[in-house]
Amino acid sequence: MKKKFAVMAIAGAALCMAAMPACAAEDLITVGYAQVGHESDWRTANTQNYQDVFSEEAGYSLDLVDCDNDNAAQLEAVRTFINKEMDYIIIAPIQSAGWDTVLQEAQDAGIPVIIADREIEADASLYDAWVGTNTKNEGITAGNWLAEYLGDKDANILVIEGSVGASATIGRTDGFNEVAKDHENWKILDSQSGDFTQAGGQEVMESFIKSYEGQFNVVICQNDNEAYGAMDAMDAAGITYGVDGDVTLISFDATHDGLQYTLDGKINCDVECNPIQAETVKGVIEKMQAGEEYEETTLVEDQAFVAPGITSEYATTMTDEVLAGRAY
Ligand code: AHR
Repeated sequence: MKKKFAVMAIAGAALCMAAMPACAAEDLITVGYAQVGHESDWRTANTQNYQDVFSEEAGYSLDLVDCDNDNAAQLEAVRTFINKEMDYIIIAPIQSAGWDTVLQEAQDAGIPVIIADREIEADASLYDAWVGTNTKNEGITAGNWLAEYLGDKDANILVIEGSVGASATIGRTDGFNEVAKDHENWKILDSQSGDFTQAGGQEVMESFIKSYEGQFNVVICQNDNEAYGAMDAMDAAGITYGVDGDVTLISFDATHDGLQYTLDGKINCDVECNPIQAETVKGVIEKMQAGEEYEETTLVEDQAFVAPGITSEYATTMTDEVLAGRAY
């Protein structure tokens, strides 16, 4: 669905965009981005993408706040943007819940809000647009690929989830569980948060190994950094994983290093979550600036990748060429 945004007192900025490249500071469109933090390689790539796209040369003044995965800090960042009377606010929500009050404050201040990357549990009338990935589909893809890969074999599964309350965690968990419930010979032994970090992934995997050594044959990490930590823990315990190992390893994100491990056969399947979203968000803002109709919801497409030697209807088999094309 599309709607029209009424451009108010930012006409100077609109002119500046049309007359690029030289914009006076007061003509730049001010954008506040309440970023989740710096917990993962994915997040670093997403931050860099925003800094590249929302440049002064492009007519923007970007105020990007790294909220360090702290929900209270993120609400505070948004309130600061409102107080500064930014032209636009972008939020990558740490938590999916708890947004109604601050979104109402932004709306009362007449500042358009774009929710990016993750989803929120709030009425769509409280924000103007959403740009992100379908994390439930990512979880379903992981499940479908595992079913295809294992055939009739039993699966004893350990899950290292992302941050508690994040829509990326909720979506991937729900999506995978939806497939898992149709497989009587799949058992999810345990599922714990690794907070989307390498240290978190390693810590959870070490504790899983203490509790379940010899009992599991599938590990699912809900992002690449957790997978790196889990690999370190399995290496230390002498547990083999990947295409030649005892444990099938699934990851999410498909960042450069994750795909390198997939090419090397250490990660069996890496389901993409595309961090390159800023250009799409900028496109929405440009339409709002021009008073044109814009997409309220834009899905950034994902795909999945599998190690050499695996062919799948759900994923692309990794090659050197695929890796060479992955910039982040
Ligand atoms: O919301 C996207 C998720 O957040 C990515 O999977 C993860 O790496 C990041 O921290």
